[in-house]
Amino acid sequence: QENDDHGKYKQRLLVVANRLPVSAIRKGEDSWSLEISAGGLVSALLGVKEFEARWIGWAGVNVPDVVGQKALTKALAEKRCIPVFLDEEIVHQYYNGYCNNILWPLFHYLGLPQEDRLATTRSFQSQFLAYEKANQMFADVVNQHYEEGDVVWCHDYHLMFLPKCLKKYNSKMKVGWFLHTPFPSSEIHRTLPSRSELLHSVLAADLVGFHTYDYARHFVSACTRILGLEGTPYGVEYQGKLTRVAAFPIGIDSERFIRALDLTQVQEHMKELQERFKGRKVMLGVDRLDMIKGIPQKILAFEKFLEENAYWRDKVVLLQIAVPTRTDVPEYQKLTSQVHEIVGRINGRFGSLTTVPIHHLDRSLDFHELCALYAVTDVALVTSLRDGMNLVSYEFVACQEKKKGVLILSEFAGAAQSLGAGAILVNPWNVTDVATAIGRALNMLPAEREKRHKHNFLHVKSHTAQEWAGTFVSELNDTVIEAQLRTRQ
Ligand code: G6P
Repeated sequence: QENDDHGKYKQRLLVVANRLPVSAIRKGEDSWSLEISAGGLVSALLGVKEFEARWIGWAGVNVPDVVGQKALTKALAEKRCIPVFLDEEIVHQYYNGYCNNILWPLFHYLGLPQEDRLATTRSFQSQFLAYEKANQMFADVVNQHYEEGDVVWCHDYHLMFLPKCLKKYNSKMKVGWFLHTPFPSSEIHRTLPSRSELLHSVLAADLVGFHTYDYARHFVSACTRILGLEGTPYGVEYQGKLTRVAAFPIGIDSERFIRALDLTQVQEHMKELQERFKGRKVMLGVDRLDMIKGIPQKILAFEKFLEENAYWRDKVVLLQIAVPTRTDVPEYQKLTSQVHEIVGRINGRFGSLTTVPIHHLDRSLDFHELCALYAVTDVALVTSLRDGMNLVSYEFVACQEKKKGVLILSEFAGAAQSLGAGAILVNPWNVTDVATAIGRALNMLPAEREKRHKHNFLHVKSHTAQEWAGTFVSELNDTVIEAQLRTRQ
């Protein structure tokens, strides 16, 4: 165990997630280059000063040989990361299959894949077995590294089996589980063939967290309706104890974005962009290229807006950054071609020899480019069909202190519950509704923009990722201590 600045022992926090916050590139038989991703969870946990965090997860690469595995383990140890090695077949069945083709769409209300509905349960069954097996592999690694007093925080839909596996190893382990996606209505969850097994396992945790109160409520309803358990305002009674269930809305490291705007590189990017799009209003979409993000629907709404508002045709541009993701899953491949087709059609229809209405990029931007883009944007379009929270909306708000641009936000994103008062809320399935919102946003008077921005900016500044992580971890610690005290009484 490590000492803190005052020489006291720091409690260890084992953060278990499917993906480690690093990208690993193999340079030779026994050498790796690692890049830490500075994303949400990483900065959130850096802010939790009372704990010393270790990460356990998959490095996102296939390393079949022992030499490579040893070298990667050693390199990762310097970054306080511990790898779980998954072979190609497991990745295919567990990650591409059960996680991304079954749980992900189901939790976002897109239903189960067709072939599974038709009771050809063979592939479903094998994917489910791979999911259990992968979760057991994560549990083995956690168990090897666990020391008494550690707190274990499991993340997301990939690891719903983990709490149960961990408690089997050691019933005293403090285990929390947090879901970063929506938890759907119990009527949706009950269509899943393995609905009960997953609920039972999650209930083995001491604390179960969601981004919104609605998701927590859906989870409790699923436990009462599907498992016949007793729900209380605090959680679910399970095997003689209370599994605490609550909402912990995540935030961002807003200061990191605000500070970045003063950097010379960012200012230069901003100047370039302003020059490039002079005389036009900039609308922005930043999404992983995922069906839940509603990219085709968003672009169709933009087309409708251009169709009905000839005045705006040469005065507005939509920049859509679509970051490729899960490219081995066929649904994602289909989506990519679909988006390209729509963008091509609209640019063909409304473009001129020198300009096009939509700039679509299939890639990610570096942090500085992204901040500059957020800062020069007039209207951001976050129109997910469903989204656990959606932090792009937070990042945009953080970068808009000068411009006070408008956020158009899906009512089906968790963020609608926190930024709803400042944003224009839309139903992303309703193309007419979104097209109308685009017009409203572009024509909004400065006083109203300022009022709306202020509301959201205050929220984004005061509800940070650090605070989110700190609250969850300390509640997990306390929940376990309280439960121990209760059993002793
Ligand atoms: C969502 C999930 C995360 C996941 C991320 C990227 O935000 O909640 O758990 O890591 O998407 O997806 P990927 O499949 O590339 O890890």
